[in-house]
Amino acid sequence: MNKSGNLITTEDLKIYFPVRRFLRTVGYVKAVDGVSLHISKGETVALVGESGSGKTTFGRALLGLVRPSGGRIVFDGLDITDLEEKDMKRVRRRMGVVFQDPYASLNPVFPIYRIVEEPLVVNRMGTPEERREVVMKALEDVRLTPPEFFASKYPHMLSGGQRQRVAIARAIITNPDLVVADEPVSMLDASIRVEILTLFKEIQQRHNVSFLYITHDMATAKYFSERIAIMYAGKIVELGPTKEVLSDPLHPYTQALIEAIPDPDPTNRFRFRKVTPGQPPSLINPPSGCRFHPRCQYLIQGTCDVVEPMLIRIKGERYVACHLYEKPPMEREGHQ
Ligand SMILES: Nc1ncnc2c1ncn2[C@@H]1O[C@H](COP(=O)(O)OP(=O)(O)OP(=O)(O)O)[C@@H](O)[C@H]1O
Ligand code: SF4
Ligand SMILES: [Mg+2]
Repeated sequence: MNKSGNLITTEDLKIYFPVRRFLRTVGYVKAVDGVSLHISKGETVALVGESGSGKTTFGRALLGLVRPSGGRIVFDGLDITDLEEKDMKRVRRRMGVVFQDPYASLNPVFPIYRIVEEPLVVNRMGTPEERREVVMKALEDVRLTPPEFFASKYPHMLSGGQRQRVAIARAIITNPDLVVADEPVSMLDASIRVEILTLFKEIQQRHNVSFLYITHDMATAKYFSERIAIMYAGKIVELGPTKEVLSDPLHPYTQALIEAIPDPDPTNRFRFRKVTPGQPPSLINPPSGCRFHPRCQYLIQGTCDVVEPMLIRIKGERYVACHLYEKPPMEREGHQ
């Protein structure tokens, strides 16, 4: 799904946080550990995984908010891996972000107008009159109408869904090419989630924006994304077109995530299915070989616990990192 070239690409991206004890570094939290991923122009990629798997850290790295420890990030042809903050600020104008918590992410003492206008002011874009026009248009774009009514309100006067619309207006005000949306609907009621995701879709189509959509939730990933990357303990373990991955998951961890999706049918008393058994691994001392091996029912002793599986192409745009799918090249797709 390359609509018109890659907007952002990471190559073997690593983000390690030092663990300090008595002023000494005694180890590293390997939050992102060798992630290669691209997002095409106008494409939405969902990044899914359980808590602590490195999703937010990866998103922050794309925004230049955390320094990579290794690898590369290329944004629209420009290597932004080690950009100085003043240069990164210019690139960040072309990026927006929406966080999980619409209550915490908006400054409570500012009216909505000032909150939405802020990125324009920070980036010295336009005259006050020009900015006013852009802010009103953004409020209309996120369906906060009439915009004059909402512009003078304060965050506490709005509902959760309305606040998230304000956060989205602020994210798109500089007309960005990339929006990182980090669990943007997980704190909202189910009915409002669909409204907000529909709004994201409209914005994406109208402005050809690329999205990194970070979520725990397979159902919303299915609704909103074209490709999905499954992250486990700092690594991508499966990647591919969302519909294909959800209908035919290859990696045992993806299969477990899908099995854990509750059945929406309230008459099914088994609708809350089992969660992935076992605990998420330590990112300071991750398991040897395949990081999922202590929780995997298909573990191949002597291989999975020793050799790290590489992310390999299985068919079409499907990639998986699992020894179960490693075959001699002649036996793969097209040669069987
Ligand atoms: N600034 C930091 N300093 C040290 N460790 C950090 C920092 N930021 C994140 N981490 C660690 O990196 C790991 C990945 O965290 P991250 O927030 O990226 O996970 P996540 O997948 O977004 O989780 P969640 O679904 O709970 O939001 C965690 O172990 C976390 O404690
Ligand atoms: S590599 Fe082995 S342990 Fe890892 S997911 Fe595949 S079968 Fe399971
Ligand atoms: Mg997170």
